[in-house]
Amino acid sequence: MKTYHICTFGCQMNVNDSQWLCRALDRRGYEASDLATSSLILVNTCSVREKPEQKVRQYVERIFWETSKKRSVLVVILGCVAKQLGERCFSFSPQVRFVCGPDHIGEIPDRVAELLDEPEKKLVLTDDTARYPEREILGVEAPQSYVTIMQGCDKFCTYCIVPYTRGRERSRDPLAILQDCRAKLALGASEIVLLGQNVNAYGKDSPIPFTFAELLERVDALDGLQRLRYTSPHPKDMDARDIEAFGRLRTLCPSLHLPMQSGSSTVLRRMGRGYSRKDYEKLVAELKSNRPDLCLTTDIIVGFPGETEADLEETLSLMEACRFSASYSFCYSDRPGTKASTFTDKIPSSVQHERLLRVQELQDKLTDAYFTKRLGTETTVLIEHKSKRPHNGIASWEGRDPYGVRIHIPATDSQNWIGHLVSTTIVEKGKHCLFGSPSRT
Ligand code: SAH
Ligand code: SF4
Ligand code: F3S
Repeated sequence: MKTYHICTFGCQMNVNDSQWLCRALDRRGYEASDLATSSLILVNTCSVREKPEQKVRQYVERIFWETSKKRSVLVVILGCVAKQLGERCFSFSPQVRFVCGPDHIGEIPDRVAELLDEPEKKLVLTDDTARYPEREILGVEAPQSYVTIMQGCDKFCTYCIVPYTRGRERSRDPLAILQDCRAKLALGASEIVLLGQNVNAYGKDSPIPFTFAELLERVDALDGLQRLRYTSPHPKDMDARDIEAFGRLRTLCPSLHLPMQSGSSTVLRRMGRGYSRKDYEKLVAELKSNRPDLCLTTDIIVGFPGETEADLEETLSLMEACRFSASYSFCYSDRPGTKASTFTDKIPSSVQHERLLRVQELQDKLTDAYFTKRLGTETTVLIEHKSKRPHNGIASWEGRDPYGVRIHIPATDSQNWIGHLVSTTIVEKGKHCLFGSPSRT
């Protein structure tokens, strides 16, 4: 029996690639198994900051020890670290024999079959394909499904490695996207999340004039779709039609992840983001005028080279002004080959960490204020899975509401609620999620 195990680091694009790989390997007769007993181990990697990259190395070393150093185990390094380091990944462990960049993931099932037959062979596939790397459409049975709409990023923010790992922006054929969405809806999905590093640049590289807003409209019209979301958009590329879509499209959820990175125009300029603090504030105001209940989340980098105390204060005040319900904040980390890595005014790590704490403390307050406002309100939860931990000693289901907030509701009967939309009253708040009590299904 051929057994495999996949470990996934990084963003939703990697999660989507790994889900595809599971399906493709299952179809070829492989069986999913745990780390210690698998003969094929795939590590889908992220190199966006130094820490995730280190985690990959540590994980590959762990595989070596946990599989009792069996050379017969085939380890594949795929994704962004594979692209970044190429054949240098072979030095992680003698078990690594295949290094596969993001554009060649569709080839993995066939290539591993060759490598399993030829134990001495090694393979590196890390070049960028000229067009979007289309692959066989294979759905995954899940209430919420990801659909990638483009590959790469052309923005070259000065701190970011993604344009080097994912290559240039290449939009996927709109017909293939719609076919993929239909396949997922046919398997029972009711929510679709469109994915890309810079989704609202969709279509700009393509000879056929087809914009992101048009794509949203076409997906919104698909039979069976209840909820539509996308991630990540770039604030600079949000045009009027993208903004008004929030007030117009039936399925487009009132939730948006809109990475701000900093509240200081000076820092934003040095990051090469292409917008100022004022531009960001104006965009948020326009979005909220189309959809007053829009729930915003964001990404923030602290301790960017040259960031002053006053710049940090501006980040904190923009967070307050936008009232984000959640944010992902990170200390700036040097990435090889990026422009910011050559900047000389680096911020000491102790200062970065102190600033990160301040951002996180403020976010905790903003999240709590948002959750308090939600107490006693009605919402609808799309149940995704059973919660890992019981709440107040009672097993519960977990899902998201239209605002993208994680909500747990008690599992009071033996019915399987996965995929159901459950009307719920919010009765309690946690630190990162809400608790509801079902009103009806
Ligand atoms: N395309 C998205 C983000 C992709 S990377 C966008 O434009 O926002 C995800 C997040 O990682 C970024 O939003 C940023 O906050 C963070 N990030 C990227 N490079 C980083 C670096 N060198 N150091 C710290 N955080 C970084
Ligand atoms: Fe990185 Fe900027 Fe592209 Fe986002 S838009 S992936 S932060 S270069
Ligand atoms: Fe990481 Fe690559 Fe995604 S660097 S964030 S896995 S695009």
